[in-house]
Amino acid sequence: MPLVTTKEMLKKAQEGGYAVGAFNANNMEIAQAIIEVAEEERSPVILQASQGAIKYAGLDYIVAIVRVAAEGATVPVALHLDHGTDLDQNIKCLRAGFTSLMVDGSKLPFEQNVEITKKVCDMAHACNIPVEAEIGQIGKAEDTDEPGVTIEKTKDFLAKPEEAKKFVEQTKLDFLAAAVGTIHGCRTPFAKLEIDLIKTIRKLTDVPIVLHGASGCSDEEVKKGIAAGISKINIDTRIRMAFVGKMKEIMEKNPKEIDPRKILGPAKDAAKKIVRSRMKVFGCTGKA
Ligand code: G3H
Ligand code: ZN
Repeated sequence: MPLVTTKEMLKKAQEGGYAVGAFNANNMEIAQAIIEVAEEERSPVILQASQGAIKYAGLDYIVAIVRVAAEGATVPVALHLDHGTDLDQNIKCLRAGFTSLMVDGSKLPFEQNVEITKKVCDMAHACNIPVEAEIGQIGKAEDTDEPGVTIEKTKDFLAKPEEAKKFVEQTKLDFLAAAVGTIHGCRTPFAKLEIDLIKTIRKLTDVPIVLHGASGCSDEEVKKGIAAGISKINIDTRIRMAFVGKMKEIMEKNPKEIDPRKILGPAKDAAKKIVRSRMKVFGCTGKA
């Protein structure tokens, strides 16, 4: 079926008490892996492209790959911009056919974050495209994937409930990416979610809440987060680890292999395993 917008998908998730997985599609094989699993698991799914992925693959290629895959699927598939840090990136993705956007002004002072978010919302809403925006700061683990240091790092940048409420009201954003204890790029699941904070934000704002950096969460944390009000969950690092890990394994075992299909095919299967296990934990399996 044609690409759908994320709005309906997340509304249903919010009402149904589950979360939809938003998986980063960094190349063709990963995009195929995500959509194949969604189809097999009868799950709605969001494929998202970061600015880095867009730079790497080219905007038109990403849209074409995801569109072709979605058209061959019978479950709802959305194409989302992940962490678009400026207006230009959001305009380009809107024009290219993305079915939801993200404007990330989280590093800006609050007023400027409101300003850029509102601009993107006004523009996207005119085309019936929903927008996600970030409050608080969900940082990057970078090389410090060390529990104590990383957990401490999140504390200073948590979303503030009253600010989140104002942010939603002033911008009319559709989905709220709130900093609630995770950090991007964790290779081990040691994040501790601020469950009371999620519940408070959920009470104060009515929009679906998005969990970023979810590779750093154990299954139990994820389930607690969903019960507290999370409706969209972003996963990138775990897929990268599985995909590249399998590539390395094959190349180490068969150093003479020169057929990329024999390396990327199994890597795709490894990515599929991760996507499948996440969908089961998110509760979106069977919801299409
Ligand atoms: O926006 C992307 C996500 O928040 C992914 O985070 O790489 O830690 O899974 P992750
Ligand atoms: Zn993120």
